[in-house]
Amino acid sequence: MTSSAIAVSGLRKAYGDKAVLDGIDFEVAAGSVFSLLGPNGAGKTTTVNILTTLLTADAGTVRVAGHDLATATKQVRAAIGVTGQFAAVDDLLSGRENLQLMADLKRVRSGGQVVGGLLERFDLVESADKLASTYSGGMRRKLDLAMTLVGSPQIIFLDEPTTGLDPRSRRTMWSIVRELVAEGTTIFLTTQYLEEADQLADRIAVLDGGRLVAQGTSDELKRQIPGTHVRLRFTDAGELDAATRLLDGALRDDEELTLRVPSDGESKSLRALLDRLDEHTINAQEFSVHTPDLDDVFLALTGRTSEEAIAK
Ligand SMILES: Nc1ncnc2c1ncn2[C@@H]1O[C@H](COP(=O)(O)OP(=O)(O)OP(=O)(O)O)[C@@H](O)[C@H]1O
Ligand SMILES: [Mg+2]
Repeated sequence: MTSSAIAVSGLRKAYGDKAVLDGIDFEVAAGSVFSLLGPNGAGKTTTVNILTTLLTADAGTVRVAGHDLATATKQVRAAIGVTGQFAAVDDLLSGRENLQLMADLKRVRSGGQVVGGLLERFDLVESADKLASTYSGGMRRKLDLAMTLVGSPQIIFLDEPTTGLDPRSRRTMWSIVRELVAEGTTIFLTTQYLEEADQLADRIAVLDGGRLVAQGTSDELKRQIPGTHVRLRFTDAGELDAATRLLDGALRDDEELTLRVPSDGESKSLRALLDRLDEHTINAQEFSVHTPDLDDVFLALTGRTSEEAIAK
């Protein structure tokens, strides 16, 4: 067996004449978190569905847990767990019954004990015997993930596991993902949240227009784009003009009345910059130091902000 938990090469999928995946390649190391990042409609769920045997690709090769997806579907299914974008919870059963059903389906030994442990881990003990239909969105997502963990699959696919969750439930999800990885599980995670990929992923791939437009660690992606800068906002165009004349290499935005000044972000150069503005009696209404985050990466790679892309 190779050390890659997932290896994808030349993967293509079209709906009618619309290419959703236009030849994508990536590898996921065993025991790591790989995040597929992209806006609505980018093809994240399509990718997950292909990798989890729910959908057939038009072209390309995929190996999951060392098995060829095209010929060893059964072995692939035995190695993976999937939490889909929309919960697979049965509303007419309680949380405990949903988990027990999963344990029975997967023929897990001492299922009752496993179920009890999962209810505790996900903080669902109090509601364990209530119908899932009475659960909040966050509780349903947690139950859904707990169901995926029954039988301890070696590779877990999570399709937007925290979309719509409040910050506290999101943190719970994050810490569970970290625990799973510490236990040696491989996680394939899709998300629209750059921060989530930044927090959890060992490697990130950005999907846009059917292709992976970038791949790497979060630091590598951040290094691909222009670095730290100071952002100055002015109250009127006159001040903006004066500041633009004064500061070489600054990028102006007339609508926002801002200037983006390249800087190393160190206190000495920040003080020098402020002193220069002072000498020329130019007053900046706002002054902020900006280090690149994944939002900047997305903007640099796709020409859109992540919010614009999602709103599209
Ligand atoms: N069964 C289908 N028939 C036709 N087109 C489809 C089908 N399923 C998905 N698509 C299209 O394929 C594209 C990718 O969809 P997909 O669900 O993979 O995106 P996504 O990245 O998961 O988006 P989201 O963030 O909204 O979940 C979209 O344009 C979608 O409309
Ligand atoms: Mg989706």
